[in-house]
Amino acid sequence: MEIAKVAVVGLGTMGAGIAEVFARAGIGVVAIEADVAALNRGIGLLDASLSRAVSRGRLTAAEQAEIRGRVRPAADFGELAAADLAIEVVPERMEVKRQIFAELDRACRPDAILATNTSSLSVTAIAAASEHPGRVIGMHFFNPAPVMRLVEVVSTVVSGDGVADTVSALARRLGKTPVQVSDRAGFIANALLLPYLNHAVHLLETSYATGPDIDLAATAGVGLPMGPLALLDLIGLDTALSIMEVLHGEFGLPRYAPAPLLRRLADAGRTGRKAGRGIYQYGGSPGGADPHGGNGPDAATPDSVTLIGAGDDLEEDLASAMAAAGITVTANAADPSDLVLVAADAWRPVLPASLAAGRPQDTVGLHLTGKLGAGRLAEIVQTGVSSAAAVAAGTALAGKLGFTTVRAPDRPGFLVAALLYPHLADAVRMVQDGYATAADIDTAMTLGCGYPKGPFELIDAAGAAAVLAGLAAMHEGYGYPEFAPPPLLAEHAAAGITFGAAPRPAR
Ligand code: CAA
Repeated sequence: MEIAKVAVVGLGTMGAGIAEVFARAGIGVVAIEADVAALNRGIGLLDASLSRAVSRGRLTAAEQAEIRGRVRPAADFGELAAADLAIEVVPERMEVKRQIFAELDRACRPDAILATNTSSLSVTAIAAASEHPGRVIGMHFFNPAPVMRLVEVVSTVVSGDGVADTVSALARRLGKTPVQVSDRAGFIANALLLPYLNHAVHLLETSYATGPDIDLAATAGVGLPMGPLALLDLIGLDTALSIMEVLHGEFGLPRYAPAPLLRRLADAGRTGRKAGRGIYQYGGSPGGADPHGGNGPDAATPDSVTLIGAGDDLEEDLASAMAAAGITVTANAADPSDLVLVAADAWRPVLPASLAAGRPQDTVGLHLTGKLGAGRLAEIVQTGVSSAAAVAAGTALAGKLGFTTVRAPDRPGFLVAALLYPHLADAVRMVQDGYATAADIDTAMTLGCGYPKGPFELIDAAGAAAVLAGLAAMHEGYGYPEFAPPPLLAEHAAAGITFGAAPRPAR
C-alpha cells in the first residue's frame, strides 16, 4: 500500500516534528489538534523549525513554502477519510489514546493504518480500543524527530500481515531506519536508555557526583552527544517518569524503580526544557543550573607532585607531561610535595596506595578514561580522607595538563564506568533474553539516541573480559543485583569472541 496522505493527531513537540518529517518527504499532512489555540501553538513549532532550517541555509524559502503548503491544519477529525495512515502523538494517558483510536476508527477508511507514537504504553492495549486492532501499529519516533534517524515499528500479537512492512517502507521513504520490534515495555531504545538516565539521577541525588560532572562523564568520557541529565530535560522529566513507571510495572526490577528525585522534580512541574527548568535551568540565571552545585572554587596548580603509579605507560606519560609543564615530580612518598597523585585503575581502590604513601589527606587518584570513548577525560578520585584542597589541586593539575576533569568517589568504576557499565549489562541482558539482536540494539542506540558507537561496539572495543571484570567488581562493591554480570557476557569473555563477530544462536 502506497502512503500518500497522513494525519498527525497531536501537535506538541513530537507531533509537530513528525508532521515536518512527513511533509519534507513530499507527503500531504492533515495536522490535527483539539482546539484552535493548541493548533496554532503546534503550527508555530513547525514554522519555527522550518525557519531555523532556512536561516541555517539547509532549506530555501521556496522549499520552506512548498513543505508548509503540504500541511493542512485542522481542529477536528473531518478530513480523515483521505488519510492512508493516521498517527496519534498525544500525551501518554491511556484513556485519552483509547478515545482517539475510537474516533480514528469512525473517521478513517477501513483500510487506513492507525499508528501510535507511544513511547511507553502498550500498543496492544491501545489497539484493543479499535474495532480493527489488526491495523493498529506502533510507529515510534525519537526527539528531535526531524534529526534522529530511528523509527521503532512495533507489532502486536494481533497486527495484520504486512502492516509492519508497509510502515517500515514508509519510514525508509522518510529517510529513517526502521527497526521492527514486538510490544514490550520501552521497546528497544527506551528500555535501555531510560534506566541509564534514571541511574544518572540516582548518582546525582546520592551526591555521588555533581550534575555537570555526570553529564561530562557521558559526553567527554564516552563520546555521547548529550549527558544523561541534559537529555532528561530534553525528553521531559514527566515523560521519563511515566516510562520508568511502565518499565518498573512490567519487569519489577529494582533498577527500574524511578529515582525519587525524578519523581519530585516531575511532581513540582520542573519537567525540563519545555518548563524552562528541570534538572537544569534554561534561559535564566546560570546560578540555578545545578541543584548540587559545581566543583567549587578553582585552586592553584601544585608546584610539586609525588606520583605513585604501577610503573606503566600511564605513570611515565604523566610524569613527562608534568615535567614539561614545569612541575617538580618526585616518586618518593617521603619527599615533600604539594600533592600526592595516584595513577589509578578504575577497578582498584585508591585508598590503599594513599594510606601507604603516608599522607592520605594530601592524596587523590587520577584516572584516564581514554579506552572507552573519544575523550581525554581525567577522573579525579577522592578517597574518604582526601582533603578538599587536594581534590582542588588535583583538578587544577589535570586541567593544566589539558584534560577535561570530573570528580568521582573512590568506588568501583569511579564515575564513567559506574554510569556506563550497568547500561552495557542491560544491553547484554536484552540479547540474552532473546528480545533483540546486538545489531538491532546498536542500530537503535546510534540512530535513535545519537551514540557514536552502540553498546555492543563499546563492549567489543573494551573487550568482553574487561567489561565482565568491571561489572563483577561493581557487583561485589555495591551488592546491587543489577550489576551482576550477565551469563552471556561471561560466555563471550570465556570464548574470547566479540558481539559483532558472534554467530547468532539458533532459536
Ligand atoms: N528540531 C529540528 N532540528 C533540530 C532540532 C530540533 N528540535 N535540534 C537540533 N536540530 C538540528 C539542527 O538544526 C542541526 O541541523 P543542521 O546540522 O542541519 O544545521 C542539527 O540538528 C544539529 O543540531 P545542533 O548543532 O544545534 O546541536 P547538536 O549538534 O548538539 O545536536 C542533538 C543536537 C541532535 C539533539 C544531539 O545532541 C543529539 O543527538 N542528542 C541525543 C538526542 C537523543 O538521545 N534523543 C532521543 C531521546 S529518547 C526519545 O526521544 C524517545 C522517547 O520516547 C522518550
